[in-house]
Amino acid sequence: MSGSRVNSDGVFCVVMRPSDPTIPEIPTRANFEVLLPDGGQVLDQDEEWCEILVDGERRRIRFHDYHDIYDIPGFYEQLFYDRLKCDSPRVIRGLLAQVLAEQGTQPSELRVLDVGAGNGMVGEELRELGASAVYGIDIIDEAAAAAHRDRPGVYERYLVADLTDLGSDDRDTLAGADLNTMTTVAALGFDDMPPRAFAVAYNLIATPGLLAFNIKEDFVAKRDSSGFNSLICWMFDEGVIRPLAEKRYQHRLSAQGGPLYYVAFVVEKVSDISSAWLG
Ligand SMILES: C[S@@+](CC[C@H](N)C(=O)[O-])C[C@H]1O[C@@H](n2cnc3c(N)ncnc32)[C@H](O)[C@@H]1O
Repeated sequence: MSGSRVNSDGVFCVVMRPSDPTIPEIPTRANFEVLLPDGGQVLDQDEEWCEILVDGERRRIRFHDYHDIYDIPGFYEQLFYDRLKCDSPRVIRGLLAQVLAEQGTQPSELRVLDVGAGNGMVGEELRELGASAVYGIDIIDEAAAAAHRDRPGVYERYLVADLTDLGSDDRDTLAGADLNTMTTVAALGFDDMPPRAFAVAYNLIATPGLLAFNIKEDFVAKRDSSGFNSLICWMFDEGVIRPLAEKRYQHRLSAQGGPLYYVAFVVEKVSDISSAWLG
């Protein structure tokens, strides 16, 4: 797993440790400082922002401006993991490992599609768990570039594509990849992935298969405008998925320092989402 330290020059240094011993360590120098807004300001999760101080210049960046965040090596890790204590990739890996142990399944049997893969934090956990192949997909180029830059070798293939409008080449690549597991971490709801993108990805993995994902607890507890509450409830009610493990936990701290709770699920894929639902 990655770690961070201040090196002898006083420069913040993020050290990536890929699981495969043949992949060299990538020291990524990140000469910047992250400044969080003062605690008095109450912001919704999709309004949160910070400032980054680079070479004496301050820039305000919204937490959901992933283009800007991935462009700066080490920024995502420092903001979400070091400062805001994000724990989701580790929690999803742990829950998946628990289910595999209960089922007597070897991690090496996993061929995973990591949806909303970002700069590869989840892919790295999956490879450390022992998955034999991890395919990544994200909607923005900067995510793929950051994953290749910071975690080379973690993904067998990394596609930049809109799952709601998947081209035939990308569909053929994924359909031919023999995928039996899907992960999607910190990518559902808000203005991230729409339910249809989730459904298209889900239908690309084998049946039976495994699905591991997390979602903000408010979106599970009540009807949310993103539509995920209804989709997930419908999938459980119709027996499209079968629950295997569930955990409520602190995803990360908010910009003001309060806890943000999510629910992680590992479920069995029992059937595809019908074309009637997909429309
Ligand atoms: C908070 S990041 C999470 C990244 C990674 N899963 C992690 O846990 O570190 C959310 C990611 O979802 C991606 N995303 C948003 N909408 C998407 C969509 N429609 N299809 C694929 N990826 C999407 C974003 O580009 C971003 O990289």
